[in-house]
Amino acid sequence: MRKAIYGGSFNPIHLDHIALCRQIKNEFSLDRVILIPTSTTPLKDNSYLVSDEHRLNMCRLAAADDDFIEVSDIEIQRKGFSYTSDTIAQLKTDEDELFLIVGADMFMTLEKWHEFEYIFENVTILTIPRGEYDINILQKKYNELKPYGCQAQFSLSPVGSLSSTVIREKLKRGEDLSDSLHPDVIKYIKKNQLYCQETMNNKDVYLQEVNKLSDYRRIHSLNVSNEAVRLAKKYGADVEKAEIAGLLHDITKEMDNETQLKIIENGGIMLSAVEKASPQLYHAMSASVYVKTCFGIDDEDIRNAIRYHTTARANMSLLEKVIFLADFTSADRKFDDIDVIREKANISLEDGMLYALQFTISRIAKRGGLISPDALNAYNEIVLKKSAE
Ligand SMILES: [Fe+2]
Ligand SMILES: [Fe+2]
Repeated sequence: MRKAIYGGSFNPIHLDHIALCRQIKNEFSLDRVILIPTSTTPLKDNSYLVSDEHRLNMCRLAAADDDFIEVSDIEIQRKGFSYTSDTIAQLKTDEDELFLIVGADMFMTLEKWHEFEYIFENVTILTIPRGEYDINILQKKYNELKPYGCQAQFSLSPVGSLSSTVIREKLKRGEDLSDSLHPDVIKYIKKNQLYCQETMNNKDVYLQEVNKLSDYRRIHSLNVSNEAVRLAKKYGADVEKAEIAGLLHDITKEMDNETQLKIIENGGIMLSAVEKASPQLYHAMSASVYVKTCFGIDDEDIRNAIRYHTTARANMSLLEKVIFLADFTSADRKFDDIDVIREKANISLEDGMLYALQFTISRIAKRGGLISPDALNAYNEIVLKKSAE
C-alpha cells in the first residue's frame, strides 16, 4: 500500500486538513493517509492547550467520512518529544511504500531534522508549495538535499487558507464555524467546552501537566511545591519561583530513559561519564530542558533549581537550596532520618543540606553506587565553610 504520514497538532483539525488529505490521495494515488496528532509537547503556545485525547477524538470525528484516512495515536502514546524518524521506524513495513507530508517551511529545514538520512532512506517527502516557498525555491532546496538521499515530490493541489489559530480565536468569540470545521467537531467542541475559556494562566497549565503523572508522583510534586513555598518564605527566596520549581521538579521522571536522553541532548546538555551511567539523575536534567521547551520557562534560576534538585552542586543559589531540601522534607517523605533532616532544615538551609548530603552520599556509597561529583562538591563546600567558622 502507498501510505502517507501526516502529522500536526490539529488544534483543532479543520476542513482544509481533510481537503488536503483528499487532494494528496488523488494526486499521488495513495491508498491511505495516516493522521498523527503530535503530543502536546513541545507546544510553543500553551495558552490554548487542549488535551491530547480531545485532539485525537476530534481527528477521528473529522476523518470519519473518509475510509482512506486512518487516525493514529502513536505519537500521543509515546508522550513528550517525538522524532519523525521514530514514527517512521514504527510504521514502516516491507509491503508498504511510505510518504511523509511536510509543510513547505519544514521542507526548507529538513537537513536539520533528527536522523534525517534515515527519514530520506525510508520515505518520499510530499510538499505543497506555499507563500514565499514557491515551486522554484523548493526545487532549489531539493537539489541541495538530493546528495543526502532525499526523494521529494511537489503537489500541485491548491492550499486552503484556514488556520487553526484563527479558528481558536473565532471559537473564543463564539462565531459560527460551519464553513471551517466538520459538524461533529463543532458539536464535540461545544459539548466539551473547548477553546472557550480565557487564556489559562500558567499555573493551571503546569498543574494540568502534573495531573498527568501517577498519583504517587503528583502528590509528591504538590507536596514539594508546598514545602518549597514554606522554605522560601522562611529563608527569603522567591516564593513564586519556588512554587513553580517544586511543582515541576520531577515532571519528566515517568518518561523512559531513552526519551529523557533525547530531551537532554536536545537541550544541549553534555553528560559526564558518571551522569551517563546514572539514569536516576536523568530526570532532573531532562526536566530542566522540558520546562523551557514545553512551558517556555526561561528563568535560569528555576531551571537550575530543577536541574540540581537531586545532586545539589557547589555555589547553589538560595532557590536551588530550597528546592533541593524541599524534595527531602516534603510531607510525603517517610525515610528513617526524615525527622532529623526536617529539624536541621528548620535551623538553617545549610545544616539541612549537609545532613541530606551526608545521608544520600553515604547511602549510595554503601551500596557501591556512583557518587555525583556535584554532590561531593556541594558537600565539601559546606564542610569547608563550617570548618572556617
Ligand atoms: Fe527528583
Ligand atoms: Fe522529587
